[in-house]
Amino acid sequence: MNIYKFISQSLVIILFSLSFQHVRAAGEIQIIPQPQKVELTSNQFVLTKDTKIQYIGSNAKPIADRLAELLSKSSGFSFFSLKNAGQNTIVFQLGSNSSANIEAYTLTSTPTKIIVKAASPNGLFYGFQTLRQLFPPAIELQNSNATHWTIPGVNIEDAPLYPYRGLHLDVSRHFFDKKFIMKYIDMMAMYKYNKFHWHLTDDQGWRIEVKRYPQLTKTSAYRIESKGDTTGGFYTQQDIKEIVAYARERFVEVIPEIEMPGHAQAVLAAYPEFSCSGGPFKVETTWGIFNDVFCAGNDKTFEFLENVLDEIVPLFPSKYIHIGGDECPKIRWERCVKCQARMKRENLWTEHELQGYFMKRIEKHLQEKGKRIIGWEEVLEGGVSKSATIMSWLSLKAGTQAAQQGNDVIMCPEKLCYFDHYQGLETEEPEAFGYGRFLPLKAAYSFNPMPKELSSEQATHILGGQANVWTEYMPTTQQVEYMVYPRALAFIETLWLKPESKDFKAFESKIPSQYERLKNAGINFSKSWDKESTKTKWANFK
Ligand code: ACM
Ligand code: ZN
Repeated sequence: MNIYKFISQSLVIILFSLSFQHVRAAGEIQIIPQPQKVELTSNQFVLTKDTKIQYIGSNAKPIADRLAELLSKSSGFSFFSLKNAGQNTIVFQLGSNSSANIEAYTLTSTPTKIIVKAASPNGLFYGFQTLRQLFPPAIELQNSNATHWTIPGVNIEDAPLYPYRGLHLDVSRHFFDKKFIMKYIDMMAMYKYNKFHWHLTDDQGWRIEVKRYPQLTKTSAYRIESKGDTTGGFYTQQDIKEIVAYARERFVEVIPEIEMPGHAQAVLAAYPEFSCSGGPFKVETTWGIFNDVFCAGNDKTFEFLENVLDEIVPLFPSKYIHIGGDECPKIRWERCVKCQARMKRENLWTEHELQGYFMKRIEKHLQEKGKRIIGWEEVLEGGVSKSATIMSWLSLKAGTQAAQQGNDVIMCPEKLCYFDHYQGLETEEPEAFGYGRFLPLKAAYSFNPMPKELSSEQATHILGGQANVWTEYMPTTQQVEYMVYPRALAFIETLWLKPESKDFKAFESKIPSQYERLKNAGINFSKSWDKESTKTKWANFK
């Protein structure tokens, strides 16, 4: 071989191996949500049976324990956390990072050490979740037969953009048991969601034990289907405590929703005296908006709701209680002597103002208990206090106005945030239903909770966003997971990253390895993204 040929061939080999290295390296970082800053090095860390897991700061121990538990389960080696350790160590270190953001962390891996650092346990926990995704997907298995546990060399600096990253679940239309709720929270935590909005009451079922009103769980918790079979269920107060504690350990705040004054028919089926007409009513078996709501003219209604809330409030450490407020028809109030008398007495000109009175009266009671309310955007119609947080669900418009008038806002416009909408386009044209009925992965990824119109001061009122999961057409946990995943993976990047840092192509490249993680974790998920036809149709989605 002549020298030129040798040089050119060597060059080809070098270039090829360099580009292969590059592809491999990029392929190794498959973390969702994408961390803010990732620097790859060639300094891999290899886990062995002798690797130690160390914590520095006593509040770091539960997080070190979590990794030890996960790795012991999957690798078959036996790990536990230690206060002191030498080389070949994974270190969780608290208090050495002075970030203002309590969810910020850094992660550095080198051949001798992985160091996860944060100023607070919240950030350290997210460092753990990132490290979890740096391990091969086999980490999610029980007793995997994987033999290589290699972590790429990285320097990561990370923190979320928004403090409110919510996932909602409607357990009224269909009831899901405690075990599933814990699994749901587990997966939320894995992808760095931090607020679980638990929709506990609606026309189709009441789901929380209230000792003072036993008919809520005897009658309101069950619906009788057309064929005569009964479905439903409820969480005992003990269940709630366990779930809240479980979520707390995973840095997920549980925000309960107790709906009023509308979506109350399940309650009225048991306690018709709190309606305007007196009933009788049944727990609903179909999805809809129903005219019979709580009577706003009857003081006994408020006494009942306040007693209910007084039992519920101590179960939830969150500063928020969601009190609904959406889709409340006013037709019964218009014809109710008590409601009309209240309007006269209180100088209220419209039934919308009567709803405003209703929400503010309940808010005042909750404030005395140290709680703040969240309400769906309709609460703006009757006037709302400055301290209420608004969930903007019909579009971004109500949330924009609320932020302009100084209210905190959580954005969840149905077009881009409702995970009960279809995700694939195998059989239907979107135009046939309106785009809002379809939420393909790319559309979920396009969400931006920040309206353009806001000044920088007003923008501070946008706490973040949330995806909502309404379950009338999801009777099983398998179906719930199918609707949530993988869209929840797309959605979290819209809350973690600035819009200019988002990259759908990069996101797509992470999906196959995330599918493997989900599969290993026992999560059902949709594969509609895989369908070439779907991808092509939505390539130009705006
Ligand atoms: C809602 O979807 N009715 C909040
Ligand atoms: Zn009334």
